[in-house]
Amino acid sequence: MEFYVSLLSLFVLIVSFSLHFLFYKNKHSASSLSGPLPPGKTGWPLVGESLEFLSTGWKGHPEKFIFDRIAKYSSSVFRTHLLGEKAAVFCGANGNKFLFSNENKLVQSWWPNSVNKVFPSSTQTSSKEEAIKMRKMLPNFLKPEALQRYIGIMDHIAQRHFSDGWENKNEVKVFPLANRYTFWLACRLFVSVEDPNHVAKFADPFNALASGLISIPIDLPGTPFNRAIKASNFIRKELVAIIKQRKIDLAEGKASSTQDILSHMLLTSDENGKFMHELDIADKILGLLIGGHDTASSACTFIVKFLAELPEVYEGVYNEQMEIANSKAPGELLNWDDIQRMKYSWNVACEVLRLAPPLQGAFREALTDFMYNGFSIPKGWKIYWSANSTHRNPEFFADPLKFDPSRFEGSGPAPYTFVPFGGGPRMCPGKEYARLEILVFMHHLVKRFRFEKIIPDEKIVVNPMPIPAKGLPVRLYPHKA
Ligand code: HEM
Repeated sequence: MEFYVSLLSLFVLIVSFSLHFLFYKNKHSASSLSGPLPPGKTGWPLVGESLEFLSTGWKGHPEKFIFDRIAKYSSSVFRTHLLGEKAAVFCGANGNKFLFSNENKLVQSWWPNSVNKVFPSSTQTSSKEEAIKMRKMLPNFLKPEALQRYIGIMDHIAQRHFSDGWENKNEVKVFPLANRYTFWLACRLFVSVEDPNHVAKFADPFNALASGLISIPIDLPGTPFNRAIKASNFIRKELVAIIKQRKIDLAEGKASSTQDILSHMLLTSDENGKFMHELDIADKILGLLIGGHDTASSACTFIVKFLAELPEVYEGVYNEQMEIANSKAPGELLNWDDIQRMKYSWNVACEVLRLAPPLQGAFREALTDFMYNGFSIPKGWKIYWSANSTHRNPEFFADPLKFDPSRFEGSGPAPYTFVPFGGGPRMCPGKEYARLEILVFMHHLVKRFRFEKIIPDEKIVVNPMPIPAKGLPVRLYPHKA
């Protein structure tokens, strides 16, 4: 009898425990995700809406994917399925603010699988740890005070670039040249590689890497993805060789501790006194090269495009830059004060970044279930923020397609509306570096030439950065001496 009482008690205990668990679980999920999923559709099995998402970009109108769905479903958030993942797109200034303020609380940065496969060693440790390490290193090298001493070097490289690639030519293709300019700068300022033959050795694999990074991840001979993996391995090997040599040069006093980011990374330890491994440093530098290369060259290319199309804007930039040029002694390089005087030019560059943001947006991953504007966002979902959802939205920028640099005068656009560099803890660490390289480029460009587009209605392709389909060929008209 006693045995049956015990069994009954155990039974009651298990049932009540299970009921409690079920009740608690339901209550918990009901309280954390009490609303419907955001409106939207998830498209085809597996591919979801990826093709529409990518193809609006290939046709030159990535904003169409966003605005069609804002009109159909909701202006704040809609559901979709992108790159094999359930996703929500957050729109508008509030969406940006929410994501940028909840980094590492409700969301964390997420990259498509193809990116992780091309950078295998960055998947050995969690991306969060990697990003934290990286974030600690970067500001020292990339903060405005540290960059000031590199303006002269940028000026010097820009002069060499313009005399090699632009001068004594009637016509040039802008995008490949802008690409070369930003790559030369990065090679010099990140790893002190200056010899054109050495730079050229990196350039081709680097382009293969950049174009295969966000591609369909099929690793078969000949696919862009396969070429990107091979290129990434090749560049990393080259970087490791440079790093080993630098260690020797630093030990022998042949290299300086401040000459570039490589020296800086080699000589900076974390809070436990640990130094970064060679391969880690190679990966970090590769990340910087990738982050800063096509983005800045796309921006420089669109600056040429808009200046060619808008003579009054060209005139404003020309006058400002010539005033600076005329105030310099022969052979004197640009300096920090000169950069600070380039106010109108930077407003023009910002207006270009608004209308043609090099990065269309980026992904986050939901770290937990949470509610946004009455909609449930389940843990694990990917969330996309899109620069165009504010940049081209009349709610935030009146007459949004009009090119108007005066939008950036005074206190400029409202918070979280102008986001070409993102925001919050993951905001682009290269923002200031990019500002300098773009302004130095504009200085040399307008000081030397007027120019006109050879193909007046050249198509724009966004894959994943915006680029004129034929590389923006222009006819050059050098200023009379
Ligand atoms: C016009 C030029 C540039 C634009 C428009 C741009 C834009 C961006 C944006 C929007 C992000 C944030 C993505 C996110 O929210 O997850 C980002 C991140 C990043 N950018 Fe830039 N960028 C530019 C130039 C550069 C340069 C020159 C460098 C290097 C010197 C650089 C290095 C990076 C790195 C390393 C990250 C990742 C940061 C992290 O995940 O914590 N970028 N960039």
